[in-house]
Amino acid sequence: MSTQASVTRMEKIVSLCKRRGLIFQSSEIYGGLNGFWDYGPLGAELKRNVKELWWKSMTRLRDDIVGLEATIIMHPQIWKASGHVDTFSDPMSTCRACKKLVRSDQVWEMLETVSWAESLRNLCPEGKPDVDGLLKWAKGKGAKVVPNLALIKDPEAVLANLAARSSEASSTQSVLQILCTSASEGPLSTPCPHCGGELTEPRPFNLMFKTYVGPAATEDDIAYLRPETAQAIFVQFKNVLETSRVKVPFGICQIGKAFRNEVTPRNFTFRSREFEQMELEFFIKPDEVVSAQHGKVASLENDPSPSEPKGDWGWEVWHKYWVEERFRWYASIGLKRSSLEEYWQKPEELAHYARATVDILYKFPFGTQELEGIAARGNFDLSQHQQFSGKSMEYFDQEANSKYVPHVIEPSAGVDRLILALICEAFEEEEVADDKGQKEVRTVLRFSPRVAPIKVGIFPLLKNKPELVKKALEIRDLLRPHMNVFYDDGGAIGRRYRRQDEAGTPFCVTIDFDTIGENGPEKQDTVTLRHRDSMTQERIRICDLLQIIQSQIL
Ligand code: GAP
Repeated sequence: MSTQASVTRMEKIVSLCKRRGLIFQSSEIYGGLNGFWDYGPLGAELKRNVKELWWKSMTRLRDDIVGLEATIIMHPQIWKASGHVDTFSDPMSTCRACKKLVRSDQVWEMLETVSWAESLRNLCPEGKPDVDGLLKWAKGKGAKVVPNLALIKDPEAVLANLAARSSEASSTQSVLQILCTSASEGPLSTPCPHCGGELTEPRPFNLMFKTYVGPAATEDDIAYLRPETAQAIFVQFKNVLETSRVKVPFGICQIGKAFRNEVTPRNFTFRSREFEQMELEFFIKPDEVVSAQHGKVASLENDPSPSEPKGDWGWEVWHKYWVEERFRWYASIGLKRSSLEEYWQKPEELAHYARATVDILYKFPFGTQELEGIAARGNFDLSQHQQFSGKSMEYFDQEANSKYVPHVIEPSAGVDRLILALICEAFEEEEVADDKGQKEVRTVLRFSPRVAPIKVGIFPLLKNKPELVKKALEIRDLLRPHMNVFYDDGGAIGRRYRRQDEAGTPFCVTIDFDTIGENGPEKQDTVTLRHRDSMTQERIRICDLLQIIQSQIL
């Protein structure tokens, strides 16, 4: 359950995102569109840096992964083959009273954060109802907030029902359910989180957005906005294989938009309807082939933290390797290990084709939630496309002298969730002394310099001193071909530092009278380099500036 402190922290983060141009509500001037978000100037840079770092770590720094950029709308048969047309759905209920739609499997989670449910929980501690208190609440405060709750509509009958069903009232949740159920017999109701009304039975709701291709717009022209980037990789597997001189084991990765018509988008950008994914499909030999070729399949017992790929690895070791790689990558962009959790899905939670799935979770202020999933998917996807398209997805392995449909390990990350995690991780308010020794709160985003949207703030001490401005512009021109810089000549230096702290800028350079040689030749052509996190300043030579900063941001 979210505490007041974490709710407040999240509100501050959302407000900072808007104030500093990280994230805006989409279509805001028209009232917004639920589940859609835009990235402002700082957010766009941050996102670009994160995607660039992922792409670089996957493709340019490795020999065994190549990239792909496919279309968002693809042949609709792809989604039939992948199972999305038939099974990519969430259970949904409608409130019989207010007609709002809710995700049936998230109602109780939503009720954790709803104030009227909190009042009811407080009146039923450990499942023991305070009948007088409930009656008073039902006739007073409750009637204003949740008019459609059974307890409000007929308090006496529902309280009598509660007494009669006391054997079922073993927990606070079951007491709550009885208070929301008008019938004296039969199954208990689940209340609408918005008005307390009764919800319909869950129905599957397919999450794919539909559109039409071509002007006729008939049923035959239906196509879908892709709900994941992964399928394009599977359907282009053969083309990549034949054109890239890659050999199994190898991967194909892609970054791109995905769309899901989520029933209840929420928690800021965490669950959006339009979002971006960074997905890798890493194709490996089936274990039987590894075993035939090497006489054995390596086990995790001998190498529990695999880091250097070897020929005798089967799916289990490759899967663990990718889990570890992903943790290493998150550390490299500034997510502390202690802010992350590793969750191994239980056998009953696994998709029918998955052999193992590990979720990497981040401790968001609103709860510990999934950032990335790393699934061992067997050869399900390639086999499905082979069957549905009639085209062979087999690979001839010269080393093993055998033909097979490769298996796959899939690390699949959401860009937007990662951006939100990085902002949550970086956000800090700390008490510091201002120039006059007065205490003030400094808001700072402690982004890793590698992802920070602006790398350096460049400040001439005074804007009306042409020599200072000229030098500052020279430094801006020296640095900006290599990184995003921000030139700021407005206001006191302290204020300028604070503005950059809020934007997460790791370095600020001030051009002062020493720089232009007014205090003697030894300090000429030096500047102060101020560090965001420690707020310390050092004097360095302009000719060393580029190298010093570049070594921190690459
Ligand atoms: N190809 C596998 C796949 O798409 P997924 O767990 O459904 O797996 C992978 O999605 C990642 O995409 C998630 O871990 C999450 O980071 C991101 N993601 C999924 N749905 C999202 C949504 N509605 N809003 C934002 N990110 C989402």
